[in-house]
Amino acid sequence: MSGREGVFAGDDPFELLRRWMDEAKLSEINDPDAAALATVDESLLPNVRMVLLRIVGTNDVVFFTNYTSTKAKEIEGAGKAALALHWKSLRRQVRVRGPVVKESGELADDYFASRSLGSRLGAWASDQSSPLSSRQELEDRLAHATETHGHTPPRPDFWGGYRLSPIEMEFWRDGEHRLHDRFVWRRATPNDQWNVTRLFP
Ligand SMILES: Cc1cc2nc3c(=O)[nH]c(=O)nc-3n(C[C@H](O)[C@H](O)[C@H](O)COP(=O)(O)O)c2cc1C
Repeated sequence: MSGREGVFAGDDPFELLRRWMDEAKLSEINDPDAAALATVDESLLPNVRMVLLRIVGTNDVVFFTNYTSTKAKEIEGAGKAALALHWKSLRRQVRVRGPVVKESGELADDYFASRSLGSRLGAWASDQSSPLSSRQELEDRLAHATETHGHTPPRPDFWGGYRLSPIEMEFWRDGEHRLHDRFVWRRATPNDQWNVTRLFP
């Protein structure tokens, strides 16, 4: 692909994303894996919020959340979503979109087990995106979760991952005079080969 070298080198966009995230780990002050997750509700009104992009696999990416949250309802309603990562320190952006399925097996168990005890108990305590009467109600629920599960809370069945299999991944790097570099990897389905195209900024 003519002109794709340096930070854009390589044919596998998952490898490229991992490389950019590794570089961001060295320069971002917080959450180099933070991504804006875009969904649509049933009226097609867009919604967006940050999540942590915890796993970049060989053909998909995974983030974790509460399965009764607003984002979960929107993901499951549409069956697809988009993510955007932006690293201010690197002046780079990555966009990813495609179909999404639940990841509620062993991988979700393993990831849940790797979280701090506080985060694991917090997952039990939070009815994410539902109305909460007061901070006290949350603290009461946390105390209840601690009493019930002690130091070994299992993964709640209402909490786990979503696996997005991209059909599009775009890599953007800031250029002088707004003449940025953009390369997009596209494929018709997650089982197809990628085509790479350079885009006008
Ligand atoms: C940097 C950052 C990372 C976040 N990571 C997650 C995450 O991985 N999972 C999650 O459920 N919420 C995460 N949140 C909170 C979400 O942005 C959001 O407030 C919450 O999930 C509820 O969204 P919803 O009501 O649209 O479902 C994060 C927030 C920030 C600012």
